[in-house]
Amino acid sequence: MELIEGIKGRRSVRKFTDEKISRETIEKIVDAARFAPTWKNSQTPGYVVVENREIIDRIAEKATFSFSHNKDIIKGAPALVVLTSINKKSGYEKDGSFSTNKGNEWQMFDAGLAAEAFTLAAYNYGVGTVILGIFDDSKVGEIIGLDDSKTVSALILIGIPESEPAAPKRKDVSEYLSFI
Ligand SMILES: Cc1cc2nc3c(=O)[nH]c(=O)nc-3n(C[C@H](O)[C@H](O)[C@H](O)COP(=O)(O)O)c2cc1C
Repeated sequence: MELIEGIKGRRSVRKFTDEKISRETIEKIVDAARFAPTWKNSQTPGYVVVENREIIDRIAEKATFSFSHNKDIIKGAPALVVLTSINKKSGYEKDGSFSTNKGNEWQMFDAGLAAEAFTLAAYNYGVGTVILGIFDDSKVGEIIGLDDSKTVSALILIGIPESEPAAPKRKDVSEYLSFI
């Protein structure tokens, strides 16, 4: 797939068929996503794929702050990817001090780049995704048994799209761009 076509064509998919995504396809997606840039190549992101229906439903019920929109779409997805980040690496010096005045924000920056790479690679292989930001990270961590050295940065639902969603309108280039 051509790069610009992929960047522009990827959509957030919220309705999936029942078809499971094969582990081989998920491995191919992560094989591409691992090339996303990270702070000093710290490679902090990780992907925990939850295929177990009971665990997916528990996350939907217990970790969505009762936001029914997300609860429902999680329950309708064949699999959920928990995007994790290793703590205290991105944005840090070796002695544990912050490198910049953005503190530990670079950890989420890395996670965002990883999420974009993951969703684009998934799109390339015909797999639909949606990134979810409204969820309780500690609850999800507890449910999947994540250790304290990591934080849950985002959730990504994956599945075969039931239909192709239309693109939400974007601002014009002139509103995004300025030159000095
Ligand atoms: C950080 C982040 C958090 C998001 N959280 C949610 C969410 O909780 N629920 C949801 O349905 N969509 C969520 N989205 C998807 C956005 O609504 C979507 O990307 C946006 O409307 C643009 O649509 P598109 O992805 O199809 O281009 C999130 C996207 C991002 C990048």
